Amino acid sequence: MADPLERLARTALAHAHAPYSRFRVGAAIETDDGRRFFGCNVENVSYGLTVCAERNAVAAGVAEGARRFVRLVIVTEQDPPAPPCGACRQVLMEFGPELEVRTLGRTEERRWTLAALLPAPFRFDATTKGS
Ligand code: THU
Repeated sequence: MADPLERLARTALAHAHAPYSRFRVGAAIETDDGRRFFGCNVENVSYGLTVCAERNAVAAGVAEGARRFVRLVIVTEQDPPAPPCGACRQVLMEFGPELEVRTLGRTEERRWTLAALLPAPFRFDATTKGS
């Protein structure tokens, strides 16, 4: 496992809190200046409060001032490897469509750009607010 971002994602996966779905996810994200952040999914007994690994990784970066994310590695324990959910795609899109997304399952791997995963993101023009 040469990729340090993958190593971080695997560490996060080991810390996933997924007692309800038993679907553990680890994610690690890297900035253009080489900083790395990671997160795991954190489930809750009130199921809808669950937060995905990808969003926790992004939040960890944003909290330290990171914005220019270039690469995301997601690790799960099932094949085929799962791409990020729709909510996470939209959250990731906030920081740019160029993000390279690599997802690793048990033995398989898939890659996309964020733009390919979310071709029509929600946007609005914040300078022309309604009444
Ligand atoms: N999950 C993620 O962590 N990332 C995704 O992109 C999709 C789903 C988590 C949420 C929940 O804890 C479990 O996977 C099953 O949905």
